[in-house]
Amino acid sequence: MRILLLNGPNLGRLGTRQPEVYGTTTLAEIEAACAEGAASHGHTLTAFQTNHEGALIDRVEQRDYDAIVINPGAWTHYSYAIRDALAACDVPVVEVHISDVGAREEFRKVNVLVGVVAHSVVGRGWPGYLEAIDWLAAHAT
Ligand code: DQA
Repeated sequence: MRILLLNGPNLGRLGTRQPEVYGTTTLAEIEAACAEGAASHGHTLTAFQTNHEGALIDRVEQRDYDAIVINPGAWTHYSYAIRDALAACDVPVVEVHISDVGAREEFRKVNVLVGVVAHSVVGRGWPGYLEAIDWLAAHAT
């Protein structure tokens, strides 16, 4: 299975961005760990991060993957364009949030992706990405 790992806005700064909320692990370290996790199940992983909504949609439209793991960052809470792109991609999508969005500000409790993702991993820190890959390996092969 070819897994596409997507990270949205501000997640390129993981490691130094609000470490008290998101930890000190960098996105490069997370992507490397996810590639190893995917390989341990016999799968491949390609990673892409962008701060630009259209760039993420363009990447999804490439359709060169069998499953998606995505942390959409703040787009989670308001982007119907990202929701539509994921709804149209025709593969299982697992959503990851490093922090416990349900226990933070009110606006983070709104999730416009509900109904288009197959599974969500929330508030498990960066290892939540590995849980998402494990979930795909168990449910999407
Ligand atoms: C996040 C939570 C979002 O509310 C926030 O905008 C992010 C990161 C998380 O991983 O906990 O950028 O998706």
